[in-house]
Amino acid sequence: MQKKISNLPFQGTPEQEKKLHEVIEKHKDDKGAIMPVLQEAQEIYGYLPVEVQTMVAEGLNKPLEEVFGVATFYSQFSLTPKGRYNISICLGTACYVKGAAAVLDKVSSALGIQPEECTPDGKFSLTACRCIGACGLAPVMTINDDVYGRLVPEEVDGILAKYND
Ligand code: FES
Repeated sequence: MQKKISNLPFQGTPEQEKKLHEVIEKHKDDKGAIMPVLQEAQEIYGYLPVEVQTMVAEGLNKPLEEVFGVATFYSQFSLTPKGRYNISICLGTACYVKGAAAVLDKVSSALGIQPEECTPDGKFSLTACRCIGACGLAPVMTINDDVYGRLVPEEVDGILAKYND
């Protein structure tokens, strides 16, 4: 699966960088250190931008390509930041047949972002996912833990307006 790169500039803090270096130091001599270091790096930063991958590669003395390969291969790793509200739209078969693509288009144009992007204020991120097992409610969208089913594009603005903090 091809992963999209972040649409927002990297804004890591010195504290995060210090923590990352401690993690690298802890695993430096381990075989297969890339995986656990990336897991902890994602906990520190919330995602794995290329700047973080570069620090990991340099710290572990590995080629960036190898780190990038691991970060892109495993679905648990995200190369893009998540917003405070992560919107996930199911594009599984049942949802797709019931018009999920139109809902996705509507959310995308309402927020001005594409799937795997985050709004510049860090409020919303958008992602398309596979079946989440709620096909009876197709098409389904989740916003963090809230589930919205049997959606039509006309409902999208009203739902987004509820997340107004
Ligand atoms: S296909 Fe969307 S929940 Fe199953």
